[in-house]
Amino acid sequence: MNILSVQGLTKQYPSFTLQSVSFSLSYGRIMGLIGVNGAGKTTTLKSILNMVCPDDGQIEMLGRSFPDNELACKQEIGVVFGGVDFYQHKKLRDITNVTRRFYTNWDESAYQKYMQEFNLDELKQVKQLSAGMRVKYSIALALSHHAKLLIFDEPTSGLDPVSRDDLLVLFRQLIKDGQRSILFSTHITSDLEKCADDITYIKKGKVLASAEKESFIQSFQHLKEPSDSRGLTLEEVMLRTERGSNNV
Ligand SMILES: Nc1ncnc2c1ncn2[C@@H]1O[C@H](COP(=O)(O)OP(=O)(O)O)[C@@H](O)[C@H]1O
Ligand SMILES: [Mg+2]
Repeated sequence: MNILSVQGLTKQYPSFTLQSVSFSLSYGRIMGLIGVNGAGKTTTLKSILNMVCPDDGQIEMLGRSFPDNELACKQEIGVVFGGVDFYQHKKLRDITNVTRRFYTNWDESAYQKYMQEFNLDELKQVKQLSAGMRVKYSIALALSHHAKLLIFDEPTSGLDPVSRDDLLVLFRQLIKDGQRSILFSTHITSDLEKCADDITYIKKGKVLASAEKESFIQSFQHLKEPSDSRGLTLEEVMLRTERGSNNV
């Protein structure tokens, strides 16, 4: 069964259209949503979650329609969007207190365990955390209400290489038991080499390809040049697709 299924998702802005985006994610897998800046990654994630109102499309999460069961679905997901951060001056403890009240299946001992494991101090303010620690705190909150689907918008952007690697290792651990899945957007191809099972590539608001990593790369073999003796890397796929004259 799919943990997330997106069919024909469409969102129109005055100068941009997210055009009939479709893909699905199974349990126990990590999907990377990749594309250059402005390709429509954030718009896709926000439309899935009804944070912006999509014009068309069906979203099924954990086997039911997301828009028809939004509150119930939200109990079972963990969502982290970068960029805007409202809580700079708040202590983690205060944010946790608000979050705890929202979730019916909040697990305090799991929360304490993850805070300790991630070396997070509840008495610190958000602004005192590094970018990597902020993502880890969000993950701790998500795991404390046993979120099955984690959705992150560019979680690794702005992280140093070591923190980025730590986070990707953590992602792999989180899905290991097959009970959870992760969907995260990135423009960093090395994130996907290290971490993704599946890749959805979005260009100018359209899905170019969505597949398991190896078949994804295979589907771009037409971009190979005669001098390429080996398979293409993800970086080559992306550079050649974005720059190629054969405007895919
Ligand atoms: N609220 C909005 N109103 C109008 N246009 C928007 C809005 N949000 C995003 N866009 C436009 O949609 C396009 C895709 O943006 P976005 O989804 O943020 O791309 P990405 O996350 O891949 O960098 C951009 O051209 C952006 O200007
Ligand atoms: Mg974005």
